[in-house]
Amino acid sequence: MIRLATPGDAGALRAHAMELFRTSEHGVVQPDEAAPLERFREKLEAGEHAKGWAIFVAVPTDDPSVIVGDVGLYPESKRKIAHNATLGIGLVPAWQGVGLGRTLMEITIGWARTHAALRRIELQVFATNGRAIALYESLGFVREGLHPARVIEPDGRAIDEIRMGLDVSG
Ligand SMILES: CC(C)(COP(=O)(O)OP(=O)(O)OC[C@H]1O[C@@H](n2cnc3c(N)ncnc32)[C@H](O)[C@@H]1OP(=O)(O)O)[C@@H](O)C(=O)NCCC(=O)NCCS
Repeated sequence: MIRLATPGDAGALRAHAMELFRTSEHGVVQPDEAAPLERFREKLEAGEHAKGWAIFVAVPTDDPSVIVGDVGLYPESKRKIAHNATLGIGLVPAWQGVGLGRTLMEITIGWARTHAALRRIELQVFATNGRAIALYESLGFVREGLHPARVIEPDGRAIDEIRMGLDVSG
Protein backbone atom coordinates (compact mmCIF):
# COMPACT_ATOMS: atom_id res chain seq x y z
CA MET A 1 0.00 0.00 0.00
CA ILE A 2 1.25 3.50 -0.80
CA ARG A 3 0.07 6.49 1.23
CA LEU A 4 1.18 9.90 2.48
CA ALA A 5 3.28 9.66 5.64
CA THR A 6 1.80 10.79 8.96
CA PRO A 7 3.49 11.85 12.24
CA GLY A 8 2.96 8.29 13.51
CA ASP A 9 5.37 7.06 10.80
CA ALA A 10 8.38 8.94 12.24
CA GLY A 11 10.03 5.90 13.86
CA ALA A 12 9.40 3.55 10.92
CA LEU A 13 10.54 6.20 8.45
CA ARG A 14 13.80 6.75 10.32
CA ALA A 15 14.39 2.97 10.53
CA HIS A 16 13.78 2.78 6.76
CA ALA A 17 16.16 5.67 6.12
CA MET A 18 18.83 4.01 8.28
CA GLU A 19 18.53 0.78 6.26
CA LEU A 20 19.01 2.77 3.05
CA PHE A 21 22.01 4.63 4.48
CA ARG A 22 23.55 1.27 5.43
CA THR A 23 22.81 -0.57 2.17
CA SER A 24 22.69 1.85 -0.78
CA GLU A 25 25.83 2.53 -2.79
CA HIS A 26 24.13 5.53 -4.35
CA GLY A 27 23.36 7.87 -1.44
CA VAL A 28 25.28 10.68 0.20
CA VAL A 29 24.15 10.25 3.81
CA GLN A 30 26.24 7.97 6.00
CA PRO A 31 24.57 6.25 8.98
CA ASP A 32 26.30 8.46 11.57
CA GLU A 33 24.98 11.55 9.76
CA ALA A 34 21.29 10.55 10.00
CA ALA A 35 18.92 13.14 11.43
CA PRO A 36 17.59 12.31 14.93
CA LEU A 37 14.11 10.87 15.36
CA GLU A 38 12.86 14.23 16.60
CA ARG A 39 13.69 15.87 13.27
CA PHE A 40 11.67 13.21 11.41
CA ARG A 41 8.74 13.77 13.78
CA GLU A 42 8.89 17.57 13.46
CA LYS A 43 8.87 17.38 9.67
CA LEU A 44 5.86 15.08 9.62
CA GLU A 45 4.02 17.07 12.28
CA ALA A 46 4.50 20.31 10.36
CA GLY A 47 1.60 19.19 8.17
CA GLU A 48 3.06 20.90 5.13
CA HIS A 49 1.55 18.62 2.52
CA ALA A 50 -0.75 21.42 1.39
CA LYS A 51 2.29 23.53 0.43
CA GLY A 52 3.58 20.92 -2.00
CA TRP A 53 5.82 19.13 0.49
CA ALA A 54 5.10 15.41 0.55
CA ILE A 55 6.48 12.09 1.69
CA PHE A 56 4.83 8.96 0.31
CA VAL A 57 5.58 5.64 1.98
CA ALA A 58 5.12 2.06 0.76
CA VAL A 59 4.15 -0.50 3.40
CA PRO A 60 3.54 -4.23 2.81
CA THR A 61 -0.10 -5.18 3.32
CA ASP A 62 0.91 -8.07 5.58
CA ASP A 63 3.12 -5.88 7.83
CA PRO A 64 1.99 -2.25 7.76
CA SER A 65 4.36 -1.31 10.59
CA VAL A 66 7.36 -1.49 8.24
CA ILE A 67 8.22 1.03 5.54
CA VAL A 68 9.90 -0.57 2.51
CA GLY A 69 10.05 2.45 0.23
CA ASP A 70 9.64 6.20 0.37
CA VAL A 71 9.69 9.18 -1.91
CA GLY A 72 9.98 12.73 -0.69
CA LEU A 73 9.17 15.96 -2.49
CA TYR A 74 10.62 19.11 -0.93
CA PRO A 75 9.79 22.50 -2.48
CA GLU A 76 12.24 25.36 -2.08
CA SER A 77 11.19 27.78 0.66
CA LYS A 78 12.14 31.08 -1.01
CA ARG A 79 9.21 32.49 -3.00
CA LYS A 80 11.10 33.09 -6.27
CA ILE A 81 12.09 29.42 -6.50
CA ALA A 82 9.25 27.79 -4.54
CA HIS A 83 7.85 26.22 -7.74
CA ASN A 84 10.83 23.80 -7.75
CA ALA A 85 10.65 20.68 -5.58
CA THR A 86 13.56 18.32 -5.00
CA LEU A 87 12.73 14.61 -5.12
CA GLY A 88 14.42 11.76 -3.27
CA ILE A 89 13.48 8.08 -3.45
CA GLY A 90 14.68 4.91 -1.75
CA LEU A 91 13.57 1.29 -1.57
CA VAL A 92 15.02 -1.36 0.74
CA PRO A 93 16.98 -4.03 -1.18
CA ALA A 94 14.24 -6.69 -0.91
CA TRP A 95 11.79 -4.41 -2.74
CA GLN A 96 14.07 -3.20 -5.51
CA GLY A 97 13.56 -4.47 -9.04
CA VAL A 98 9.86 -5.34 -8.72
CA GLY A 99 8.31 -2.15 -10.12
CA LEU A 100 7.75 -0.38 -6.79
CA GLY A 101 10.08 2.48 -7.72
CA ARG A 102 8.04 3.24 -10.84
CA THR A 103 4.74 3.10 -8.93
CA LEU A 104 6.03 5.45 -6.22
CA MET A 105 7.38 7.87 -8.82
CA GLU A 106 4.15 7.87 -10.83
CA ILE A 107 2.05 8.60 -7.73
CA THR A 108 4.37 11.41 -6.68
CA ILE A 109 4.50 12.99 -10.13
CA GLY A 110 0.69 12.78 -10.37
CA TRP A 111 0.40 14.41 -6.94
CA ALA A 112 2.79 17.21 -7.97
CA ARG A 113 0.77 17.88 -11.13
CA THR A 114 -2.31 18.61 -8.99
CA HIS A 115 -0.42 21.28 -7.02
CA ALA A 116 -0.52 24.44 -9.12
CA ALA A 117 2.29 25.96 -7.07
CA LEU A 118 4.71 23.25 -8.27
CA ARG A 119 6.10 23.56 -11.79
CA ARG A 120 9.27 21.48 -11.69
CA ILE A 121 10.62 18.39 -9.98
CA GLU A 122 14.39 18.30 -9.67
CA LEU A 123 16.74 15.59 -8.51
CA GLN A 124 20.40 14.66 -8.36
CA VAL A 125 21.58 11.14 -9.06
CA PHE A 126 24.98 9.45 -8.97
CA ALA A 127 26.19 8.97 -12.57
CA THR A 128 26.92 5.35 -11.57
CA ASN A 129 23.24 4.66 -10.67
CA GLY A 130 22.13 3.24 -14.03
CA ARG A 131 18.94 1.77 -12.65
CA ALA A 132 17.69 5.04 -11.16
CA ILE A 133 18.67 7.05 -14.27
CA ALA A 134 16.80 4.57 -16.51
CA LEU A 135 13.72 4.87 -14.31
CA TYR A 136 13.79 8.68 -14.28
CA GLU A 137 14.35 8.98 -18.03
CA SER A 138 11.51 6.55 -18.75
CA LEU A 139 9.24 8.88 -16.75
CA GLY A 140 10.26 11.95 -18.76
CA PHE A 141 13.04 13.44 -16.64
CA VAL A 142 15.76 15.09 -18.72
CA ARG A 143 19.43 15.55 -17.94
CA GLU A 144 20.08 19.20 -17.15
CA GLY A 145 23.61 19.22 -15.87
CA LEU A 146 26.60 17.36 -14.56
CA HIS A 147 28.44 18.02 -11.30
CA PRO A 148 31.90 16.49 -11.79
CA ALA A 149 33.25 14.64 -8.75
CA ARG A 150 30.49 16.00 -6.51
CA VAL A 151 30.78 12.86 -4.38
CA ILE A 152 33.98 11.55 -2.82
CA GLU A 153 33.46 8.10 -1.30
CA PRO A 154 35.27 7.16 1.94
CA ASP A 155 37.68 5.05 -0.16
CA GLY A 156 38.59 8.11 -2.24
CA ARG A 157 36.61 7.30 -5.41
CA ALA A 158 35.19 10.42 -7.07
CA ILE A 159 31.68 10.10 -8.53
CA ASP A 160 29.88 12.59 -10.79
CA GLU A 161 26.30 13.59 -10.08
CA ILE A 162 23.73 14.19 -12.81
CA ARG A 163 21.08 16.84 -12.32
CA MET A 164 17.68 15.97 -13.82
CA GLY A 165 14.36 17.80 -14.08
CA LEU A 166 10.74 17.22 -15.03
CA ASP A 167 8.12 19.84 -15.95
CA VAL A 168 4.93 19.21 -13.96
CA SER A 169 3.20 22.47 -14.80
CA GLY A 170 0.99 21.05 -17.57
C1 LIG B 1 16.67 3.36 -7.84
C2 LIG B 1 15.34 2.74 -7.44
C3 LIG B 1 14.39 3.83 -6.93
C4 LIG B 1 14.71 2.10 -8.70
O1 LIG B 1 13.48 1.52 -8.35
P1 LIG B 1 13.19 -0.03 -8.73
O2 LIG B 1 11.77 -0.30 -8.46
O3 LIG B 1 14.20 -0.87 -8.00
O4 LIG B 1 13.47 0.00 -10.28
P2 LIG B 1 13.55 -1.21 -11.31
O5 LIG B 1 14.46 -2.30 -10.84
O6 LIG B 1 12.17 -1.60 -11.63
O7 LIG B 1 14.30 -0.55 -12.52
C5 LIG B 1 13.81 0.58 -13.19
C6 LIG B 1 14.18 0.45 -14.64
O8 LIG B 1 15.62 0.46 -14.79
C7 LIG B 1 16.05 -0.70 -15.52
N1 LIG B 1 17.34 -1.08 -14.96
C8 LIG B 1 17.59 -1.85 -13.88
N2 LIG B 1 18.92 -1.91 -13.64
C9 LIG B 1 19.51 -1.15 -14.59
C10 LIG B 1 20.86 -0.80 -14.88
N3 LIG B 1 21.87 -1.23 -14.12
N4 LIG B 1 21.09 0.02 -15.94
C11 LIG B 1 20.09 0.49 -16.70
N5 LIG B 1 18.78 0.18 -16.48
C12 LIG B 1 18.51 -0.62 -15.43
C13 LIG B 1 14.98 -1.72 -15.29
O9 LIG B 1 14.94 -2.66 -16.35
C14 LIG B 1 13.72 -0.87 -15.24
O10 LIG B 1 13.23 -0.57 -16.54
P3 LIG B 1 11.78 -1.06 -16.99
O11 LIG B 1 10.82 -0.53 -15.96
O12 LIG B 1 11.62 -0.45 -18.33
O13 LIG B 1 11.88 -2.56 -16.97
C15 LIG B 1 15.53 1.65 -6.33
O14 LIG B 1 16.25 0.55 -6.87
C16 LIG B 1 16.24 2.17 -5.08
O15 LIG B 1 15.60 2.75 -4.21
N6 LIG B 1 17.57 1.96 -4.98
C17 LIG B 1 18.35 2.32 -3.79
C18 LIG B 1 18.35 3.84 -3.50
C19 LIG B 1 18.59 4.69 -4.72
O16 LIG B 1 19.44 4.40 -5.55
N7 LIG B 1 17.80 5.79 -4.81
C20 LIG B 1 17.90 6.75 -5.90
C21 LIG B 1 18.85 7.82 -5.54
S1 LIG B 1 18.83 9.14 -6.76
